[in-house]
Amino acid sequence: MSAPASMAAAAAASGADGDALVEVRHVTLRFGGVTSLSDVSFSQRRGEILAVIGPNGAGKTSLFNCLTGVYTPQVGEVLFRPASGTALSVVGTKPYKVNRAGIARTFQTSRLFNALTTFENIKIGVESRFSVGPLGSMLHLPHTRRAERESDAKVVELLEFVGLTERANTIASSLPYGDRRRLEIARALGTRPELLLLDEPAAGTNPAEKASLVELIRKVNTVYGVSVLLIEHDMGLVMSLAERLIVLNFGQIIAAGTPREVQQNPAVIEAYLGAPESDEDGR
Ligand SMILES: Nc1ncnc2c1ncn2[C@@H]1O[C@H](COP(=O)(O)OP(=O)(O)O)[C@@H](O)[C@H]1O
Ligand SMILES: [Mg+2]
Repeated sequence: MSAPASMAAAAAASGADGDALVEVRHVTLRFGGVTSLSDVSFSQRRGEILAVIGPNGAGKTSLFNCLTGVYTPQVGEVLFRPASGTALSVVGTKPYKVNRAGIARTFQTSRLFNALTTFENIKIGVESRFSVGPLGSMLHLPHTRRAERESDAKVVELLEFVGLTERANTIASSLPYGDRRRLEIARALGTRPELLLLDEPAAGTNPAEKASLVELIRKVNTVYGVSVLLIEHDMGLVMSLAERLIVLNFGQIIAAGTPREVQQNPAVIEAYLGAPESDEDGR
């Protein structure tokens, strides 16, 4: 107990082994007077399921935006080391290039193409690899018939993988909510990531949908070998999936460790889970 809590949190957040897929180093992100992320450092091991938790406004989505090239932090570095290519410095790299290097994401609120079918939504993910950004893929810039067949085969595989084969021709806007969330994951997997970022994948789902999403996320990790970085409010879901958690509060990492360690951390209990006597529901 002698080390300051912030130092202990930083040590635990490092993941402490040499096989890091992602390293976030001293990232600070400001919007005018608001500091969304303050000196955030952590790393994620290859193959790991790591969760980010923290109250609303803590900076979780901002962190994802820094990891995908959407936001450019004023300070710090994000290094991505895919097994399949050279290391990438994410800060200052355009989002579609980050995606091609192997980082894919889903969004807190759905961003499906509502007028397109399930099949077509996944195909956009698959074809983003062959064209100049998402627009090029939507415009169906020319590529060979062999590539077309291969991408159709990949879509069929992903439909099966996420359990949406029967819904292949359903317009995305008329899918049940849980299926929409699965479709978002399939579309992201279509870009063949090594790291998948999921921003509150189970938000708004019912218990049955939630349970099947947990299974799907686990399968993404075990079957495709994709590392998963997960933002989620549902503590049951986080605890059942993640090997390690990091806790953000007001843009800072206040704790990191196994679910059990984090649950018992007094700073987390105070900042996030609510005081023991509180009648809040633990969010
Ligand atoms: N584009 C932006 N412009 C201004 N402020 C932003 C922007 N994006 C995020 N923020 C601010 O950053 C803080 C963290 O937000 P966010 O990362 O969305 O939190 P979380 O996902 O943990 O709920 C909030 O105060 C939010 O208003
Ligand atoms: Mg968010």
